Amino acid sequence: MNKKKNFNHFQKTLILLGIIITLAFNSKGGKTDLNSRKINFNSGWSFHLNDSIKDKDTINSTTTWRTLNLPHDWSIEGKFDEKSPAGYGGGALNGGLGWYKKTFKVATANKTKTTSIIFDGVYRNSEVWINGHYLGKRPNGYIGFQYDLSPYLNYGDKDNEIIVKVDNSKQPNSRWYSGSGIFRNVWLQTTDKLHVEQWGTYITTPKVTVKSASVHLETTIKNQYTASKSATILTTIFKNDIKVTSVTQNISIAANANQVLNQDILVNNPVLWSIEKPELYTAVTIISINNKIVDEYKTTFGIRNFKFDVNKGFILNGKQVKIKGVCMHHDLGPLGSAINTRAIERQLEILKGMGVNGIRTSHNPPAPELLNLCDKMGFIVMDEAFDMWKKAKTKYDYSLNWDKWHAKDLQDQILRDRNHPSIFMWSIGNEIPEQWSDEGVVIAKELSAIVKKLDTTRLVTAAMNPAVNMNIDAVTLQFEKSKTYFNSLATSGALDIIGYNYAHQTFEYHQKNFPNVPFIATETTSALETRGYYEFPSDTIKVWPVRWDLPFTTGNPNNTVSAFDQVRAPWGSTHEATWKVIKKYDFLAGMYIWTGFDYIGEPTPYEWPSISSYFGIVDLAGFPKDVYYMYQSEWTDKTVLHIFPHWNWKVGQNVDVWAYYNNADEVELFLNGKSVGVRSKKEDDLHVMWRIPFQAGTLKAVSRKNGKTVLETEIKTAEAPALLKLTADRNTINADGNDLSFVTVDILDANGVLSPNANNEISFSLKGNGKIVGVCSGDPVSHESYKGTKHTALNGKCLVVIQSGNKAEKLELTASANDLKSSKTVITTK
Ligand code: GAL
Repeated sequence: MNKKKNFNHFQKTLILLGIIITLAFNSKGGKTDLNSRKINFNSGWSFHLNDSIKDKDTINSTTTWRTLNLPHDWSIEGKFDEKSPAGYGGGALNGGLGWYKKTFKVATANKTKTTSIIFDGVYRNSEVWINGHYLGKRPNGYIGFQYDLSPYLNYGDKDNEIIVKVDNSKQPNSRWYSGSGIFRNVWLQTTDKLHVEQWGTYITTPKVTVKSASVHLETTIKNQYTASKSATILTTIFKNDIKVTSVTQNISIAANANQVLNQDILVNNPVLWSIEKPELYTAVTIISINNKIVDEYKTTFGIRNFKFDVNKGFILNGKQVKIKGVCMHHDLGPLGSAINTRAIERQLEILKGMGVNGIRTSHNPPAPELLNLCDKMGFIVMDEAFDMWKKAKTKYDYSLNWDKWHAKDLQDQILRDRNHPSIFMWSIGNEIPEQWSDEGVVIAKELSAIVKKLDTTRLVTAAMNPAVNMNIDAVTLQFEKSKTYFNSLATSGALDIIGYNYAHQTFEYHQKNFPNVPFIATETTSALETRGYYEFPSDTIKVWPVRWDLPFTTGNPNNTVSAFDQVRAPWGSTHEATWKVIKKYDFLAGMYIWTGFDYIGEPTPYEWPSISSYFGIVDLAGFPKDVYYMYQSEWTDKTVLHIFPHWNWKVGQNVDVWAYYNNADEVELFLNGKSVGVRSKKEDDLHVMWRIPFQAGTLKAVSRKNGKTVLETEIKTAEAPALLKLTADRNTINADGNDLSFVTVDILDANGVLSPNANNEISFSLKGNGKIVGVCSGDPVSHESYKGTKHTALNGKCLVVIQSGNKAEKLELTASANDLKSSKTVITTK
C-alpha cells in the first residue's frame, strides 16, 4: 500500500536516485537485460551407485565414479525385476543409495557475495556437504530447497567440492514409480548480501477490470550485511519485454534482517491471462544501493480473475469454463523421472491437441518447468502437496517424515508456486487415510491455515474418495441414497471446494449435499486400455479387477486390455460415463481424468509382467489411444472423424467398428465400396458403432452435415510388414546438449499401410554429436530397457528419443529390423 508520508532530505535523495535509475533503465529502448542471478549447475557431476554390501553406505578414496550431467534418475537405468522391493507399484525398478559430487571454483570477486545452491528436487532423503561441512537433509523428494554455501567456500584457484547423498534405499516408499536421484535441475546462485529472498515475491491482482488491474507486490528483501542498509527498490512491470509501468520505494533495512515491502501498481488496459491466450507479465525488482544496482529479481505473473461458483462452476475472466483436465504423474516415460523441459512440453502439446485445459500435479509438487509451461500454454493447474499425511500408504513413505517436515514442505511449495497464473487450486492431499476421522479434520485445518497464510487468492481442496458416500456398489453402479454419509474432510470447513475422486454417480446430487460449496472432480475415470489392442463385443463393460478385493488380473495373454472404451477399474468408470455427467450440469466445474499419459508403475492389472499403467489416454511413448479422439471430438473445435479398430481380422469374424465424430449429423460406413449403414449419435451418445463381418480391403467412413460431406477417412487391411518409416516431431532442435527430438517409428506394409499387429524388434543407431536417450513402445509388459538402442514395437509403433549435443551439426538416425527395409532421418541441431 502506498501510504502518504513526509520524506526527509535523505529519503528525497533516494527517491531522486530511483527516478534516475528508472530513466536509465528505460533508455535501453524500453527493454531490460535480465541478468539471471542463478546459473545452471547441471553439468560435470560424478555419480556412484552404492553397493550396500561392499560400500556400507560410505564413500572413500577407492570409490569409483562416472561422470554425468543432471537431471539424473538412476532407477531408470536398472533392470525390471519381479522381486524388486519397489514392487510393481514402483515399476519393478530398484531404488538404492547414490552419491553425487562436483568440483568447482568460485571467483574471488564473489567473496563479498552470497553463493547458494538450489535443488529443484532430489528423490529422496538428500544430504548435502560442501567442503566437508554438512548443510542439511531434505526427506521430501519433490520439494525445492537451497543452502547458503558462502561461509564454507574457497575462492580463487582453490577447488570446492559439493557432495550429495541420496537415499532411496528403503522400499517401497511410493505407490507409483518415483525415480531416484537428483532428478530435477540444480542452480548456483550468486547475489549481493542485500537481495530479494528466494521465492521472495508475491504478486496478486486484487481488482481486475477491462480498463485496469491493480497489481499488488509483496517483496521480501534480505539483508545479510552486518550493518543496516538503505536502498531503493524499483519494480518495473514488462509485457513482452516492453515496459508497462513501474514503482519505486526507498527502504532502510536493519542488519541481518528481512523486510517485507508492499507496492501497488495500476496496469491500464491489462491483457488478461486465459486458456486460449495465456498472456504473461514480468515484474523485475531492482535493488540499488547508492545508485548501484545490486540485485535483480524476475517474477512472471498473469492478470486474471476467477471464481468457483456453486451454480455456474468455474468462471475465468467472467466466462464460464468447464475444466477438462487430466492427472499426471511426473515421470516422462522412457526418460524416467529426470526432468527435461522439451519432454514436458511435448506431453502438454499432445494433451492440448485433445482439448485438455487442466493439469493436476498428482500427487506432489511438480518440477518448476511444468508450471512455467502451464503458464505459457494455458492450463488450469491443481497443485497438489501430499499423497499421505501421518498414516502410511506404503511401508517407508513420507508419513515417516510427516511430523517434522509437513509444515515446512507445504509452506515452501506455496511460496515457490504462488505467482503462477496457471494455478487455481491447492490440493492438500490425495485419498488421505485420515479423511474419515476427526484426526483428519484437525490436520486438514492446519494445512489449510498454512496455505491461507501465504495465499488467499486460490481455493483449497482435497481429493477425497468419495466426498459423499452414497453406498454405491462399484460393479453394478447401484446406490442407496438413504444411506448417504459424508467424508469428514468434506464437512470440516477446511476446504473451499469439494474434491471428488470417482463416484461420478453422486455428482448430480452435489448441490443438495453441499449447497454452499463449489464442486471439482479431482480425479475420475480410471479406465484401462492397451493401445491398438481390441476385443469383441465392444459394448460389454468389463471391470478389472472384478471386485477390488480380488487379484488384479485380466486373464488375457500379455495382460492386454481392450482399447475400446469398455474396461474400467471398479472404483472408476468408462471415459464416456463420467464425461456425460460432467458435461450435463453447469455446477460441475470440471474434472481431472486419471490419467493423461500412462506412467511407470502402478500397473492395473497389478500382476507381472505388467510394470506400467494402463490408465493413460496417451500411452507411455506418447501415442494416443483411440479414446483420445472421443475427447478431441468433444473438447476442441477441430473437425474429427476417427474410426477404429484396425482392419486386419479373420474373414467372416464379426468386428465392431466405432466412430468418434463431431460437426456432422451422421456417418456412413463403406466396406470395399459398399455401404454398411448410416449412424448418428442419439441423445448423449459419444460414439456410433457398426457390427460387420470382416472382409479384407478398405473401410471408409464419411461424415455429413445437412447431406454435405464434412470429412472422409479410411483404414485398409495391411499386408505383410515390409518397411520402417521414421517421423521426427521436430527435425531441427537446439544444439544445447538438452533439447530432444521424438521420432516415431511406424512399421508399414509395402503399400505404406500401418501393420497393426507388427511387433518387430527395431535397432537404432545415431551418427553425429547427439545421443539416443530413450526407446519405448508404450507396451506395459515390455521389460526391455528404455535406455537401450533397440526395442520391440507394439502394434506397429515405437518411439526413439534423440538428444542434441553441444555442437551444431546434422544427426543421422537409422532404424533397422530383420526382414524390413530400414529407414533414415536427419535431425539438424543448431
Ligand atoms: C486413485 C489414486 C491414484 C491412482 C488411481 C488408480 O484412487 O488417487 O493415485 O492410484 O486411483 O485408479
